[in-house]
Amino acid sequence: MDPPVPALHDRAVAAADRLLAAESVRVVSHDDADGLTSAAIAVTALERAGLAVEVDIKHGLDEAAIDDLAATGGTVLFTDLGSGGLDRLADTGSFTPIVADHHEPADGSIEHHLNPHCVGLDGGRELAGAGTAYLLARTVLDRAGVDEPDPRELAALAVVGAVGDRQTVDGELVGANAAIAAEGEAAGVIESGTDLAIYGTQTRPLPKLLEYTTDVRIPGITGNRRGAIGFLEDLDVELRTEAGWPTWADLGAEKRTQVASALLTRAVERGVPPERIDALVGTSYILSREEPGTQLRDASEFATLLNATARYEESEVGLAVCRGDRDGALDRAETLLRNHRRNISAGIESLAETGTTETDHLQWVHAGEQIRATIVGIVAGMALGEGDIDRHTPIVAFANKPDEGIKVSARANGRLGDRGLNLGTALREAAATVGGEGGGHAMAAGATIPEGTEEPFVSALDERIGAQLN
Ligand code: C5P
Ligand code: ZN
Repeated sequence: MDPPVPALHDRAVAAADRLLAAESVRVVSHDDADGLTSAAIAVTALERAGLAVEVDIKHGLDEAAIDDLAATGGTVLFTDLGSGGLDRLADTGSFTPIVADHHEPADGSIEHHLNPHCVGLDGGRELAGAGTAYLLARTVLDRAGVDEPDPRELAALAVVGAVGDRQTVDGELVGANAAIAAEGEAAGVIESGTDLAIYGTQTRPLPKLLEYTTDVRIPGITGNRRGAIGFLEDLDVELRTEAGWPTWADLGAEKRTQVASALLTRAVERGVPPERIDALVGTSYILSREEPGTQLRDASEFATLLNATARYEESEVGLAVCRGDRDGALDRAETLLRNHRRNISAGIESLAETGTTETDHLQWVHAGEQIRATIVGIVAGMALGEGDIDRHTPIVAFANKPDEGIKVSARANGRLGDRGLNLGTALREAAATVGGEGGGHAMAAGATIPEGTEEPFVSALDERIGAQLN
């Protein structure tokens, strides 16, 4: 089989051979949807190739984490993390690090570093951690001569990871991500098609799907239960079926097209800006082998389910779901998801209510104890455009992280990327000026800084973002 991302092939072969030379491997991965899918892909491939594998899901790679690994030694495969701490990994002699990541790399070099940034690909949009892990996994299986089951089936999880990291560009996966999705389609585990790009098409009761849409505001429909029901009734959508409210997926293809175009027409009539209208439609990625109507059928719903486990210190639940557990782990994940949803909508409301403070090049808000530090980034991204929070200015949200300092999350909209914005570098540098540490991607980054340094941090960050945009 041809490698889906030729530019990374040589590195993948070298790393795969190194892994296959070990008897056991410790996989260390990131605690979000992309990290969990990365870990599941890596573990599945390594086990199929006959290796003994242990997994550790971590929030980041701090000194303590590296010390722990050094104490155990052996071969450590880092997925969806590691590149940001490459300098520290390069210094350790006590274990063999292999990194398959897509975060902005720090200076430093190790023998096995698989990262789209190293070969001129955009790690924020073209390849996520799970995709990088997938390339490695596929190469491991190829080198080990294992071709049953079809290694390309792992592409389904890679798509979930990329969607979870919000890598889609104008509603669809591009570049290496698209090549991987195509492998999933060829293997019969992914179906993609143009569809309504609203979260919850598989599981939300139809009126709620429209009512609770936060991506786009359509006056008279979103945030308006009666309006949403009326809109659907006018289109003769059968709302009261025996099984209860239907979901979007329950409608036939013809009805879906009819409702979608009526929705677009309504948005145009109500003066919704063209770029928001475009955002209503996108490519959906369906996991063909999952039950229709479940949280696992649509890649974006699957990703949210995983985040709902990882952000509440129950990563093992998400990992088990990725690895195929459809009983206890899935039940638990669904409970966590309900809780996560409540926290997110409360968080968005709280940010919108507090409002942001604008500096020259950014806006910031301090959530204190109001929002859990592990979800403040998700909330900040979703709050862009809510209330008086300007969609087009980068947002920086702070939250207290008891005993550890202040958690910082920054998010921005795609267009600023074309103007040179790179929050990952800006946060890394600004955090360093106040004795903290940060990093991430161009449009989504995070940091932890000492308590009380928020003000100088904002100034340092403002200056860097200003320089980038010029
Ligand atoms: O934590 P948050 O969701 O805001 O992080 C956004 C992105 O920035 C994530 O991909 C995360 O891994 C990255 N990040 C980082 N270094 C940090 C904090 C976050 O690379 N110290
Ligand atoms: Zn990632």
